[in-house]
Amino acid sequence: MKTMKKIELHLHLEGAAPPGFIRGLAAEKRQDLGGLFDDRGAYAYRSFAEFLRVYEAATGVLSGPADYARLLSAVLSECGEQGAIYVELFISPDFCGGGDLSAWRDHVAAMEEVARAYALSGVESRAVATCIRHYGPDRARRSAICAAETAGAWVSGLGLAGAEDSGQPSDFAWAFDCAREAGLGLTVHAGEWRGPESIRGALDLGATRIGHGIRAIEDATLVRDLADRGVTLEVCPGSNVALGVVADWKSHPIARLADAGVRVTVSTDDPPFFHTTLSREYEMLAETFGWAETEFRQMNLWAAEAAFCDPETRDRLK
Ligand code: ADE
Ligand code: ZN
Repeated sequence: MKTMKKIELHLHLEGAAPPGFIRGLAAEKRQDLGGLFDDRGAYAYRSFAEFLRVYEAATGVLSGPADYARLLSAVLSECGEQGAIYVELFISPDFCGGGDLSAWRDHVAAMEEVARAYALSGVESRAVATCIRHYGPDRARRSAICAAETAGAWVSGLGLAGAEDSGQPSDFAWAFDCAREAGLGLTVHAGEWRGPESIRGALDLGATRIGHGIRAIEDATLVRDLADRGVTLEVCPGSNVALGVVADWKSHPIARLADAGVRVTVSTDDPPFFHTTLSREYEMLAETFGWAETEFRQMNLWAAEAAFCDPETRDRLK
């Protein structure tokens, strides 16, 4: 599966940091990271709330544009290993400069240089500036302004991640209106920890893509609506299994959603946290649902059509 060309629409940059990368950086800075890792050196958490805490603590080791450029280089290198030819990375202005526009610009400039180099070697990327839901609407506004002010060739979308049960989608309407006016693509994590209403709320924000979205399966009308409107789901099955959103691979609704005509795509979310890779996700889909070349080709076509990139790049991906 590694050699199959793949498009990944849902990868958190900080969530893709290998534990060894974070430990190495912490050692350089003489920072103590006690409690973040298990005996085997993997990220340690027992619930989604703990996952978010460990994620944010690990992210705390990254400080400044140079660290982010190094991380992006490590992550894009691994994406290339996995056969990815195009990747969209969720990157939060809250982590890159604490919501300050000038600091965010510096982070983007450093990362964009790395991204350009990898594009030359066949791994295209785009950044989706990401609001963190549990940081609240005011900080989301600041993130949206950062996104809008840097909208262009590389920063091409606004996203909303974090604790889905925090506030209501409509709390983030200003941020999403601001991003839409700046020409950014819109995607919202929904239907992971909350049900169909959360997905409807995300669509009301103007999202053309939904991060996860798998709990749409609880509402047949919503499933039909997603299919009719051509909404693309960024499905991350290994993440859903590891975090306990679904019991196991067999009961994951991705195949039922695809059978109902919903545009499903496959991503890894935060691969080292979930002991997965993009190739492993494909292998598990093949093993669990019998998917093969035809299904994967269709999925990647949908991903290309939903990508937040210019038409020329999109055509090259198809
Ligand atoms: N941030 C990183 N991974 C996430 C997930 N699976 N859900 C919500 N926010 C996230
Ligand atoms: Zn995610």
